[in-house]
Amino acid sequence: MSDAFVDLGDGFWTVRGSFRIGGIVDIGTQCSLVRLASGSFVFLDSYAFDDEVRARVDALTDGGRRVEAVLNLHPFHTVHCEWMHKAFPQARHYGTSRHLEIAPGLDWQELRCEDDALMQRYADDFAFSIPRGVPLVADNENVHFSSILALHRASGTIHVDDTFVYLRKGFPLSLLPLTGRLGFHPTLAKALEPRAGAADDFHEWAVELGVEWAGARRIVAAHNAVFDMGAGQFPERVGEALGRMKPVLDAHRAKHG
Ligand SMILES: [Fe+2]
Repeated sequence: MSDAFVDLGDGFWTVRGSFRIGGIVDIGTQCSLVRLASGSFVFLDSYAFDDEVRARVDALTDGGRRVEAVLNLHPFHTVHCEWMHKAFPQARHYGTSRHLEIAPGLDWQELRCEDDALMQRYADDFAFSIPRGVPLVADNENVHFSSILALHRASGTIHVDDTFVYLRKGFPLSLLPLTGRLGFHPTLAKALEPRAGAADDFHEWAVELGVEWAGARRIVAAHNAVFDMGAGQFPERVGEALGRMKPVLDAHRAKHG
């Protein structure tokens, strides 16, 4: 399947790409291209897109020259970073601590995506949020729960990898209860810090996110789909997702307090 480059309006484009587990099952992946108020561009996440998408990106960004930065927001999404560095050598490439650790040979900025100073640098265009009660980089690299979420203010679009999932699959997978609704990544139970208060910290973070980003209109999610939820819907969707995680949070409280 070839990659898709979708104009979501207001300076936000999403690349819907493919990512195969074991070379077979395509779970999809994403990156986003965003035009800043300054007229420059940034990518959220790295993805080795095909030539057709590259041509569309080049047409928008003067052959890539106006891409000033690439922000890698998920600590365990690293396989496309090398390609991105080569494709956009003039851009500043930012990663999380794990990106810098896993690919020390790449030309990373010292400032990391989880650093407040970087979030402040882009605060006019984006709000960022990191879940509380879970580590950003889990010890178990199969626990993809945490990431840095980004809200692009101008388009009301939330870019999120894994922390939230929104699956839209064709029949017969569409019959599964997981599809067609916003949920938290199923690794939450493993991600919660083994300490008293972690479940409450997470719960509080999620409720606050819903309130603070209430104006968001849509979510672009890896590894799956674009969710056009409509303005004002986010707090309720987060509340529902939290409600379904109640057994997980209660079990954690029972064990750790
Ligand atoms: Fe992932």
